[in-house]
Amino acid sequence: MSATSAFPRDAWIAKNLFGFAVWHYDDVTSILRDKRWHSATSRIPEIMGVTDQRFLDRQQVNILSAEGDVHTRLRRLVAPAFSPRAAEKLRPFMRQVVNDLVDKVSAAGAADIAVDICEPYPIPIICELLGAPKSDWQLFSRWANDILEVFSLDMNNKIDLILRTQDELDAYTRAMIAERRDQPADDLLTALIAAEEAGDKLTTDELVMMVNAVIIGGTDTTRNQLGCAVGLFAEHPEQWKLLAEQPELAPHAVEEAMRYFGAVRGTVRFASVDIEFRDVLFPAGTFVSVGLAEANRDPGVFTDPTVLDITAHKSNQPQLTFGSGIHYCLGQALARAELQEALPLLARRMPNLQLAGPTEWKPDGVGIFGPSRMPVTFDPGN
Ligand code: HEM
Repeated sequence: MSATSAFPRDAWIAKNLFGFAVWHYDDVTSILRDKRWHSATSRIPEIMGVTDQRFLDRQQVNILSAEGDVHTRLRRLVAPAFSPRAAEKLRPFMRQVVNDLVDKVSAAGAADIAVDICEPYPIPIICELLGAPKSDWQLFSRWANDILEVFSLDMNNKIDLILRTQDELDAYTRAMIAERRDQPADDLLTALIAAEEAGDKLTTDELVMMVNAVIIGGTDTTRNQLGCAVGLFAEHPEQWKLLAEQPELAPHAVEEAMRYFGAVRGTVRFASVDIEFRDVLFPAGTFVSVGLAEANRDPGVFTDPTVLDITAHKSNQPQLTFGSGIHYCLGQALARAELQEALPLLARRMPNLQLAGPTEWKPDGVGIFGPSRMPVTFDPGN
């Protein structure tokens, strides 16, 4: 498993299928913070060889792929709605969701962490955040799975499904926007509708795009990160016990688990112009894979990078699983809160956690990685 791989120190760049790869912490952050390197999200259809005109016609600017002034404007308008304060408000609800999920497996002392806990966890929270009712959780769960096929290696065979899902979500979101315009509520959608700076506001199309981005960015990432973290703690029982005994370690435990075993393994940039970096000329259009997982183990930045220790201060530099630079995760406060609530609660209610069979991992092809099956046992009745 890549979580235990050694850090390749001797070289700083390698050739890969699309272009090049870098993995040293300094190179990764330099590229992510240099605005001449653009997000490759907008070029996924091209990379995957998608030729379906219906799909290409529907592509529009979204926050993940936008650059320059377009990105700055969007980010400035939406950032306040994603504040740490907005995430704080949801913490009691997060605890309730985790407790309800553990209640279902607690007596048995056995569960599939990926299926029973991680998979269902983010959907109610995203719905609560957006202001969608409980009766629509199932619908969102299906949309989240289907719409995420845009990142699948098999995307070309999933175009009909993706388009259908986009249509359904589009219609749902437009109806919800109209409702909130009439009757504002205390939720993200209302905050996004109200978001205004110097007379500038998001258009309805941009609001729909943001809801899409929240579903794409906020579900699979969180569930996979929780799965990676629990799997990791199952292999470090003394750290799991420590977290159960000292839940105040949760913020640090989340950073350390994300550093040691991040669910977003890397991202991709392309040179928007000719760029000279470390004395190498990267012609405009060159793709570079940016290794977040490897950079998180850079021994020049983190002390004992291959040791998991939720009490140690390993670096003054942040772990990079939320990225860096202008595309730094917009939902990081929410994701951190979700993990900080879930992990100590699971540690307390699933003592003596042990892996109880082979863990099945999702394919590592698209940057987001985590377990699809993770059978475990634990002491029942907590
Ligand atoms: C543990 C969970 C999460 C991880 C590991 C994660 C990771 C990331 C990373 C690495 C990026 C930058 C990608 C790049 O530079 O190419 C990103 C961007 C983004 N994330 Fe997250 N994310 C998580 C949770 C969330 C949540 C909960 C939301 C929404 C509620 C969210 C919304 C977004 C959005 C909208 C962007 C694009 C920001 C921009 O381009 O300006 N993420 N995330």
